[in-house]
Amino acid sequence: MKILVIGGGGREHALCWKLSKGGSAEKIFCAPGNAGIAGVAECVPISDGDVKGLRDFAERQNIDLVIVGPELPLTRGAADSFKEAGIKVFGPAAYAAQLEGSKFFAKDFMREMSIPTADFADFTEYEPARAYLESAAYPLVIKADGLAAGKGVLVTSSKDEAQDFLKSLMLDGAHGGAGARIVVEECLVGEETSILAVCDGRDMVILTPSQDHKRAYDNDEGPNTGGMGAYSPVSIVTPALIETIREQVLQRVADGMKKRGTPFVGVIYAGMMLTAAGPKTLEFNVRFGDPEAQVVLPLIEGDLAQICLAAAEGRLAETKWEPARRTAMCVVMASGGYPGSYEKGKPINGLEAAGALDDVVVFHAGTAAKDGRIVTAGGRVLEVTGIGANLKEASDKAYDAVRLISWEGERHRTDIGKRDLARIN
Ligand code: AMP
Ligand code: GLY
Repeated sequence: MKILVIGGGGREHALCWKLSKGGSAEKIFCAPGNAGIAGVAECVPISDGDVKGLRDFAERQNIDLVIVGPELPLTRGAADSFKEAGIKVFGPAAYAAQLEGSKFFAKDFMREMSIPTADFADFTEYEPARAYLESAAYPLVIKADGLAAGKGVLVTSSKDEAQDFLKSLMLDGAHGGAGARIVVEECLVGEETSILAVCDGRDMVILTPSQDHKRAYDNDEGPNTGGMGAYSPVSIVTPALIETIREQVLQRVADGMKKRGTPFVGVIYAGMMLTAAGPKTLEFNVRFGDPEAQVVLPLIEGDLAQICLAAAEGRLAETKWEPARRTAMCVVMASGGYPGSYEKGKPINGLEAAGALDDVVVFHAGTAAKDGRIVTAGGRVLEVTGIGANLKEASDKAYDAVRLISWEGERHRTDIGKRDLARIN
C-alpha cells in the first residue's frame, strides 16, 4: 500500500512510525513531515492546509490511502476532495469536521442527539452576550466558536475577566473570525480524559483511554498549551465507564452523522469530564490527539495501515482487535518560553543515546535538519514516549530518555502521570 500522511508534528511522527512497523505499508509519504519523520517516511514539502496541492500529489503518486493528521485540512474539505478523486481517505468530510471546527455546531448536535454535555447559551451579538455575563452564575466557561489553536476558551470565576475576554473575542476580533459567535457554558468539575474511537461510518473501535496535561507547568499551573504530556490507559476509566461513553457519546455521534447523510470516517475524539453526575462531553476533535496519539498508537496491536483502510472502506467489523496489554507515557520537551514566544534553531544533544534505549521512542514535533544536525524548530520540540508493563515502568523509561536529551532553554513537566501513579501505588 502507498500511503500519504498529512501533517508534520509528533502525532504524524507516531502515525508514520506505527505504519512503518506494520506489514502492508510499502511506501509512506508525509506532507510536510519533519526531521524525525524523515527517518521513517519520505517528506514532501506541501503544507497541510494546501488541499489542492495534496490532492494533486496523491493523484500523481497513485496513493492508495490518505491519513489526515490535523484538523485544518479536514475543516477545509480535504477528505471530500480525495474522495471526489477516487482516493481512499481516513478522516471525516468537512461537514462532520464541524464537530471540531465550530463549538456551536458541536453543542447543537449534542443537544439534538442527547449527548451529555454542559448546559450552554450561544450569542452572535455583543450586547446580549454582555448582559448575559452580567447576570450569570459563576464560574462559567466562554468559548470562541471557531478554531483558535486552544486559545479560544476561558474558564473563569471573575465577571471582569469574562467581560474582558468577551470584548477581545467579539469587539477586538482576537482569533480572527473564530469569535464572531461565542458559546457560554456551565463549568463542569471533575477529572478529564480523552476517549478516541476509530470509526468507519457505522462501527467503531475504542482505543485505550488517555489523559493529556494541558497546562504549561507542574501541578497544572500556568497557561494552556497544545499538551505537555499524556499517558494511557487511565486507571479510573474502567471498562464500565468506557461502555457508558460508547453508548451515550460515541455511538450517538456515529448514528447522528449517518442520519445527517455524512457518515463519520476517521477518529472521533471525545474530550470528557468525569463529573459526579457521570461523564459529560467537553469537546469533540475529529482526529487523533497530540500528544494522545503518541501513547495510544504504540499500544495498538496490529497493522495500522490495515485498520485505517478497513475504516475508510466501511469494514471495521471484520478487523480483529486485541486489547492493549502495556502502558505508555509521553513527556513533551518544549522550547523555553512556550506557549509564549521562543527561539528556534537550537542544536539538540543526546538524541541518539535516548533513541537507543529499549521501549523508548523519541517522536519529533518541531524539529529541522540544519548543517547535519537536528535543531529546534517549534514550541513543542520532542515528544518522548516510554512503554512498560505499568505506568511506573513507562514513566521511568520516558524520563530516563528525557534526561539524556538537552538543548539551550529546554523545558518539560516533571509530573506527567503523577496523579495516576499516586492512585495506583
Ligand atoms: P475545549 O477546547 O472545549 O476542550 O476546552 C479546552 C479546555 O477547557 C478543556 O480541556 C477543559 O479543561 C476546559 N473546559 C472546557 N469546557 C469546560 C466546561 N464546560 N467546564 C469546565 N472546564 C471546561
Ligand atoms: N491534546 C489535545 C488535542 O489534540 O487537541
